[in-house]
Amino acid sequence: MSDPSEVYNHQTIKDVLDELERTAVSRIAAAESAEELEKLRLEFLGKKARLSLVLRSLGGVPPEERSGLGQRANLLRRSLEERLKEQSGKLSKVLKPRAFLDLTLPGTRPERGAVHPITRIIAQITDIFEKLNFEWVEGREVETAFYNFTALNIPEDHPSRDSFDTFFTKEGHLLRSQTSTVQIRVMEKRKPPLRIIAPGRVYRPDTVDASHSFMFHQIEGLMVDEKTTFSDLKGMIHVFLRALFGKKTKVRFRPHFFPFTEPSVEVDMSCFICDAKGCSVCGQKGWLEVMGAGSVDPNVFKAVGYDAKAVQGFAFGLGVERIAMLKYGITDIRLFYENDIRFLKQFQ
Ligand code: DAH
Repeated sequence: MSDPSEVYNHQTIKDVLDELERTAVSRIAAAESAEELEKLRLEFLGKKARLSLVLRSLGGVPPEERSGLGQRANLLRRSLEERLKEQSGKLSKVLKPRAFLDLTLPGTRPERGAVHPITRIIAQITDIFEKLNFEWVEGREVETAFYNFTALNIPEDHPSRDSFDTFFTKEGHLLRSQTSTVQIRVMEKRKPPLRIIAPGRVYRPDTVDASHSFMFHQIEGLMVDEKTTFSDLKGMIHVFLRALFGKKTKVRFRPHFFPFTEPSVEVDMSCFICDAKGCSVCGQKGWLEVMGAGSVDPNVFKAVGYDAKAVQGFAFGLGVERIAMLKYGITDIRLFYENDIRFLKQFQ
């Protein structure tokens, strides 16, 4: 069979085409799988298929006999290609659902999200204060020294203004290191009476370890009215800590110093784990330090243009991570920022 024209002469070419026309179309239509179709494609249209040999051997057929045969062979080839495609389309429609849609299989559950513990604590705390008629406000994270220090009665030579304690930008702005800035932002725009609660991020150039981060969250509170006394502050803080940590919580106030409040206190609450008996959470002290507070310093009122003799107020500030760590028994602050799904899932 070295010369195909010997075998595929005019008559045999005709026979081959006749036979193919008779059988190929019905065999393609009967194919039941992609593999079967592929076999048929090789058999009818592959390099070694008879139709291919026919087309190749046409050159050896005398021109007068050749006419019509080439056209017939080419038409057949195209028609078979067409039918293979059609059948493969039909099979994919029929077989796919059969292969992939098993209604008895258990479904895949969508992953359930969880509220981040920091967001959750912020919501719990602001909810308590909103019931006490405090209004949620937000300030800015990029601030100026005026709002972060000067207006808060923090002197020019105070160490917190140092670049070791505050992030400064080249343009002379800074990342707020405390949410107390929001007190100033609100008071310079509005007149008393005021009751605000201001959650947000703060930044300090601390080296990251189990209890420090360069970014964390604080909540600032401020109440200003004609008469707002230190006992109002004490009462509100009692209500707040008992709502958050339980009715048995005891509160104590220790004298402290903050530039923006006078007098100032640090607030401790009885350890809710050991009920003030002493345990590892409270370091055997029975008490946990939870926030700073005090009566607004008259210099702060002056900085925002209030008449310091006509108004009184109190302010407080707390660290959200610290509260969350206490409440959920978390011992490493970094867990809040790594967003490990196994950690976050526990707060569903
Ligand atoms: N700003 C203080 C801090 O970052 C927290 C604070 C203490 C806020 C006393 C206050 C306050 O409003 O009265 O440590």
